[in-house]
Amino acid sequence: MNIEQKPGIVKSDKAVYTIYKYARLESTNAFLKRHCSTLPDYSVIWADEQTHGRGRFTRIWNSEPGRDLTFSLLLPLTSLEQKLRQNLTQITALSVAQMLEGYGLKPSVKWPNDVLIHGKKISGILCEIIKTDGVVYGVLGIGINVNSTAKTIANIDIPATSLRCEIQKNIVRQDLLEELLEIIINCFNVLCQTGFMRKRLEIRKRLAFINEHITFTDVKQDSYPGKIIDLNDDGTLLFECEKRGIISLNSGEIAFHNSYSMRKH
Ligand code: BTN
Repeated sequence: MNIEQKPGIVKSDKAVYTIYKYARLESTNAFLKRHCSTLPDYSVIWADEQTHGRGRFTRIWNSEPGRDLTFSLLLPLTSLEQKLRQNLTQITALSVAQMLEGYGLKPSVKWPNDVLIHGKKISGILCEIIKTDGVVYGVLGIGINVNSTAKTIANIDIPATSLRCEIQKNIVRQDLLEELLEIIINCFNVLCQTGFMRKRLEIRKRLAFINEHITFTDVKQDSYPGKIIDLNDDGTLLFECEKRGIISLNSGEIAFHNSYSMRKH
């Protein structure tokens, strides 16, 4: 079955972005990566349902069709210094956190790509950099648990929550999406024009597990207990590792708890 039906264009007026809404896609990131050279900058691919939503590493991203938000934004990276590409995930997590603050919540950023409420995951970000015909793009994939019910959330194998579970209200997803796009695109422009420092401070204020004992898992899946000390100026994490002393981390993941697997959402 071809699941890539014709999209509905839900926003095309004065905003810099255009939203293409699909009922069902395999993965909005995979779709956007395939079509980026024919789509305008700041295209947003929104799917009501993803059949193979992906997270970082080999994880699966599951969400409730028609209730949550799963979308990807195409960013032109021509005016972003190359060394700042590593900050895209974090400024997106910051943008999601700031959007949630507008709903009266107090989110934290679990470095580098998760947003938590009371220590429970509400959003995950998968940023991929791709080069097509000599042009470099950022594909920012964002999943947010918006209107998922407590029953669905209870089936997730890490501590998780949804906006509805937190504020006991259903949210109109398109309104939330538009609010968030404005914040992300502004934040991206600040990153392009002034660098990471201003955003670093904002992220640092919201950083989860600072000075707490955590377990860090690197890309090879080796685990290191230790303590998060700070967010470095370049966005890497300053970590006091019990085995290796003070080190800076630029990829990998902080475990929620000892049984957390990198393969599952
Ligand atoms: C993570 O938690 O590891 C990141 C999850 C990212 C999920 C989003 S949903 C929209 C976009 N499409 C995907 O297949 N993944 C991202």
